[in-house]
Parts: sequence; structure tokens; C-alpha cells
Amino acid sequence: MDLTHRPRRLRQDRVRGLVSETSLDPSDFIAPVFIDATIDERIPIESMPGHERVPIDESVSRVEDVLETGVEAVMLFGIPESKDAEGTRAWAEDGVVQEAARRISAETDAYIIADACLCEYTDHGHCGPLEAELRGDDTDHTGCAHDPTLTVDNDATLDSLKRIAVSQADAGADMIAPSGMMDGMVEAIRSALDEAGYEHVPIMSYAAKYESAFYGPFRDAADGAPAFGNRRHYQMDPANAREARREVRLDADQGADVLMVKPALPYLDIVSMVREEFDHPVAAYNVSGEYAMLHAAAEKGWLDLDAVATESLLSIKRAGADLILTYFAEDIADRLS
Ligand code: PBG
Repeated sequence: MDLTHRPRRLRQDRVRGLVSETSLDPSDFIAPVFIDATIDERIPIESMPGHERVPIDESVSRVEDVLETGVEAVMLFGIPESKDAEGTRAWAEDGVVQEAARRISAETDAYIIADACLCEYTDHGHCGPLEAELRGDDTDHTGCAHDPTLTVDNDATLDSLKRIAVSQADAGADMIAPSGMMDGMVEAIRSALDEAGYEHVPIMSYAAKYESAFYGPFRDAADGAPAFGNRRHYQMDPANAREARREVRLDADQGADVLMVKPALPYLDIVSMVREEFDHPVAAYNVSGEYAMLHAAAEKGWLDLDAVATESLLSIKRAGADLILTYFAEDIADRLS
């Protein structure tokens, strides 16, 4: 037996830290924040323990809480006061994210990332205006589960995304994060931002976003579930990895500054592939379902929450993510410091 090689030598207490390959830092994290224009008191989100929807008036104090943990960046999601077929409140000057971003940028140093999508703003809950509706078809869009051809109009959505991005930058957003998986969305937003004088505002594209059942709790939180059907006509098929390479390359070629993979844990192979293939910073979104399942198991006493949360985030980082969007941001940052 040749025991020249004994890996256990480097696992002893005082040397483990020296040879550790990966570490977590509060500056790796982006904390998602939900601002709700329909409420005047905070409302807990049941399926995401510890998270709340907060009224616009409390957006600054909510973000100050995040900053106190050492996390420096927030991702803003908005629940608008009203919805319509086109999602027009998404680009309103006095829209919910615009209002919140204006206040947060005026009163804090937080780095503000704005999610640019339409699903929280359309009454049918899809990520853009529907084709049939634009054609003037006589369909009831909220009851149309039976029309399999009904889908989001890609190119019309690009026009909306341009307006959303510029309105968010106008309001003080530091970075724009389009999440709708529309073809050409990065190019459209880049050109709109540049034309408006925001060439310094980066785009973090949800580049490989899968049609995942792990978004369930978020859809409660942001009230953005599709009223009929699903998102498989625009989000990626969980079966596909080669396609992710193409998808991500398109966004990189269109000028995305940061490339995101979403969800994170069930897609670490994709995170790792994007890390290998591209020089860009890679972000991973540890989504609501990934958060909820650890909480649920911990509540039953089956898992140690802090330990599994830390291990999950470490594995996402080890797979190649530089930035992690996570609902654990504040708790784990607190623990790290
Ligand atoms: C869409 C959006 C979603 C999430 C972030 N942005 C939901 C969806 O695509 O249905 C999910 C995030 C999560 O589950 O934590 N604007």
C-alpha cells in the first residue's frame, strides 16, 4: 500500500482554511426586495419565511436593513397598483419600481438592480403582450387556457422592454436585469439605454432562464403567475444544456455585461459551463423554491438551515458563479460577519 499521498494531511484544523478554494463574502450577494404599491403595511410572504412585501414608503428602510448586513446590492421587484393587458405600469414614471428606485438611490448607497419584465404588470401574468390580443382576436385572455397557440409577442415585447429599462434608469437604477427570455432583448435594451444617455448602465441578462417549477413561491410573492398556460414558449426547456450555450452566446454578443443562470442548484452544470465558456462575470439565481424547500425541511427539524444554506451558496460559487441572487443573502451575510 502506497500512502505517500495522504489528502487528510491538509484537512487538519489550522491548515484547512489556508487551502480552502472557495469562500463566500457578503459582497457576492444580491438581495431580492419586493415593493408593493397596493399596501401600506408590510405583508409576510408565507412560502418565503422571513421575506415580506413592503409598501413604497418603506422601500428605503427595507434596503437599509439589507445594507446593514454587509450586502451591497438589491434586486427590485414591483407589484403595481393596477395591471392591464400590455403591462403599461411597468414603464410608468410613477410606477412602483421607479418610485422605489428614486427614493433608494436618493437616500442610500445601495447598488440598485431593476428586474425588467412584464409578468407582474400584465393582467394575464405573461412576460409580454399576447399575440392574439395584438391581432385583435376575440379572445378572453384570462380564460384562454384552451388556445394553445396563444403566446407572447416577442417583438412587441422588445418595445416595452426598452421603455421599462429607460424608465428604470431614469429613476436611478444602476443596472438593468431583463428576465423575460425574449429573443433580442439585450440588444433592444442596450440600444435604448445608449440612446437615452445611459451607456454606463450595465445589463445583467437572465441569459439561461429555465421554465422551472422552482419559481412557485416567487409567483405568490410577486403576484406574477400566468393566469393560464405556462412559460414554456419562452423560458428554456430543463432538458437542454447545449441550447443554453447558444442562448447565452446570443446575449453575450448583444452586449450583456453579466450573464445569469437561473435557477441555480438544479442547474449547476449550466453555471459551470457558462463559467468555462465566457469571460463575463457569471450570476446565478438561487430561486424562491430553493429557499422554500430548505426552510420547510428545517422547520420539520430535518435539516440545519444555516448549514445547508451556506453549503448551497458555497456550491453555487464553486460551480463558477461570481454573483449570487439569493433570499438567504441577509441571513448568511450576517453570519459571515
Ligand atoms: C419574472 C421572474 C420570475 C422570477 C424572477 N423574475 C418568475 C418567473 O419567471 O415566473 C423567479 C424568481 C424566484 O423564483 O425566486 N419576472
